Amino acid sequence: MALPMRSLFTDPDRYLQSFRLFLANSTEHQCMQEFMERQLPSVIGSIGNGKSAINILSVGGGAGEIDLLILSKIQARYPGVTINNHVIEPSADQIFKYKEHVAATSNLENVKFTWHEETAYEYESRMSAEKKTKKWDFIHMIQTRKQRLGEVSPKAISTEERGVGRRG
Ligand SMILES: C[S@@+](CC[C@H](N)C(=O)[O-])C[C@H]1O[C@@H](n2cnc3c(N)ncnc32)[C@H](O)[C@@H]1O
Repeated sequence: MALPMRSLFTDPDRYLQSFRLFLANSTEHQCMQEFMERQLPSVIGSIGNGKSAINILSVGGGAGEIDLLILSKIQARYPGVTINNHVIEPSADQIFKYKEHVAATSNLENVKFTWHEETAYEYESRMSAEKKTKKWDFIHMIQTRKQRLGEVSPKAISTEERGVGRRG
């Protein structure tokens, strides 16, 4: 008798293991880098005009490799502008790795990082319960599990996003 398939959605470690395997055997990150070069500049072209601070929400930021690429593009477009980069990421291990990447990256003086160790749904629920609203200039969720993303919508998190990079 065939064994029932284990769902990746209930096993975060296995999910990340599978994602790493997928990255190693696909052109995912190369495609993402191409997107950064070709499409992102026009997406971020209007998010920070005249602002003293840019608020970014990364949903499922993982270990931060792609987030740091995005931040470098935003820094280049808006030199010297303060960037408040909030990251929703349920995996403590991924947040730890993200912090390591930040520590190993130079030129991040104008970026303030805030990590929220929870799912998008938990974040959204907490914000609602605390009656907090925050406006975002840019929200992205890249390769974050779809089933769970029914839980999050830019509208539901009370946002005013100008550009959303969404794939996967
Ligand atoms: C495949 S990784 C992608 C990481 C990064 N965005 C990238 O493109 O390299 C997806 C990340 O989303 C996180 N994640 C999964 N379900 C989530 C949810 N419901 N809310 C927020 N993040 C979630 C996972 O822990 C994981 O770190």
